[in-house]
Amino acid sequence: MRRQPDTSAPGPTAASENSSSPHSGGSGEPSHWIRLGQVLRDLDWALRTETYRHAVATGHQPWLPAHAAADALFQLLHIGESRSAPPPRLAGALADLGLFAREVGGPAHGTHDGESSRYRTAGHYFTAFRGMLTVADHHDRPARSGVYLGEDGLTFTDRLLSTHAEGTALDIGSGSGLSTSALAARGLHTTALDISPSCVTATAATAALNGLADRVEVAQADATQALEGSERYDFIASNPPGVVVPETLRYGPGGNGGPDGLAVVRAVTGNAPRMLRNGGTLLMRFESFGSLDGPTMLAEISDHAGSASVFVTVQSSLPMRTRSALTALRAGVHNPGLSADEMLRRLDTHTDALGAQRFYTCFLRLRRDGLARREAYDLTGVRRAATQADAQPPEPPGEDVSHLPPGLSGLDWRPHLRLVRDRWEDTVRAARRHQDPDAVVAEVFQDAVERDPIHSRSLYAFLSGLPGMP
Ligand SMILES: C[S@@+](CC[C@H](N)C(=O)[O-])C[C@H]1O[C@@H](n2cnc3c(N)ncnc32)[C@H](O)[C@@H]1O
Repeated sequence: MRRQPDTSAPGPTAASENSSSPHSGGSGEPSHWIRLGQVLRDLDWALRTETYRHAVATGHQPWLPAHAAADALFQLLHIGESRSAPPPRLAGALADLGLFAREVGGPAHGTHDGESSRYRTAGHYFTAFRGMLTVADHHDRPARSGVYLGEDGLTFTDRLLSTHAEGTALDIGSGSGLSTSALAARGLHTTALDISPSCVTATAATAALNGLADRVEVAQADATQALEGSERYDFIASNPPGVVVPETLRYGPGGNGGPDGLAVVRAVTGNAPRMLRNGGTLLMRFESFGSLDGPTMLAEISDHAGSASVFVTVQSSLPMRTRSALTALRAGVHNPGLSADEMLRRLDTHTDALGAQRFYTCFLRLRRDGLARREAYDLTGVRRAATQADAQPPEPPGEDVSHLPPGLSGLDWRPHLRLVRDRWEDTVRAARRHQDPDAVVAEVFQDAVERDPIHSRSLYAFLSGLPGMP
């Protein structure tokens, strides 16, 4: 693993060797990570994880529930603890990184030595995708590294793997390093940067685990300030943070996109056309607030692109009210003095002032080809639903919700779907009268809002498509 040398030339700032956060347990020697990667490959760790993922049908979900497999290796590495001793080579490789502990105690349960032992990993959880290993925090387990890896990271990695490229790459906001490893695995010599020291450490560890350390450099840098340099790349990848965070709320740096959610998106699209070599490509997964007509950021992207060609797909969307519930849910830990109601009030005031009706997830491919083509495809059907809503008798949302928008799955939406279906006629009448989702929710679902102000925001997602509902 090489870290970018310190340089006075403008560009991504090099990570200092001691920049690991106190949370980034197991930063370790690169050679130890490389050895652990070899052991995990010998144990078919990636194959096991992906087989279990298929069995529990979680698609692009990086983290599986504990019951996904009784396999002791899966329990130890993915869930973080196991009652069975791991193979000695694995225990040794983990111990060399300071990531392994055996706890002895309790009554004997069929163990040879009359003791029951528990084996734990520390510092990270391990998962795998498309044959690549990666470390990050498990969604449903106690935090270890402060490194996030979500469904978005896996879908983004799939897009990277299906894009042709050669030469050098820059991964802006590398997180766990899965995206960086995907670029390196395609043969690109890749520089990764992230604002978070824990992510810098995780990206380096993930590259070493995958045997790709000699193709990856990692730097700690803030993309809103560090992309002014003269370096040029053949490929730029970014899955930047996009959460809309008003100045009146605190939020974790990982997802914080600033007051309009677009600070890092804008830094990437503003600089990438200049940072790409001729013929080079930017691939970005991004989020943007918008109206029923689509994401606000599209016009800006087109302006930034100049003579580069742009291909955008709008993949999915949520009502802004529902997205704000997710933001409040995750902001709770950073704002212990604020109630859920107060956080939602601040978010609603702010997003209403922005004119944000919906929150979109998109993919962008920008190519520096001098042709200035513009293509944008809306795959969400939001605009179509809005224009047809008056013409068709509204149907209640179905119980088959296998295609839930990704963000909604973060909320407890099932009871609210049942409620909407039970009160459908009242809902439709209120929608005709008010043409305003807040008024419909206040009139028909006030009890649900009082019971659970945050999760009841999933109601807005089930109401969208009715006349007047964004
Ligand atoms: C959504 S995660 C993407 C991680 C990884 N690329 C993936 O797809 O799984 C966004 C990453 O951007 C990083 N980030 C946030 N703000 C940043 C900034 N201003 N400059 C650089 N990185 C930033 C976060 O720490 C986080 O790791």
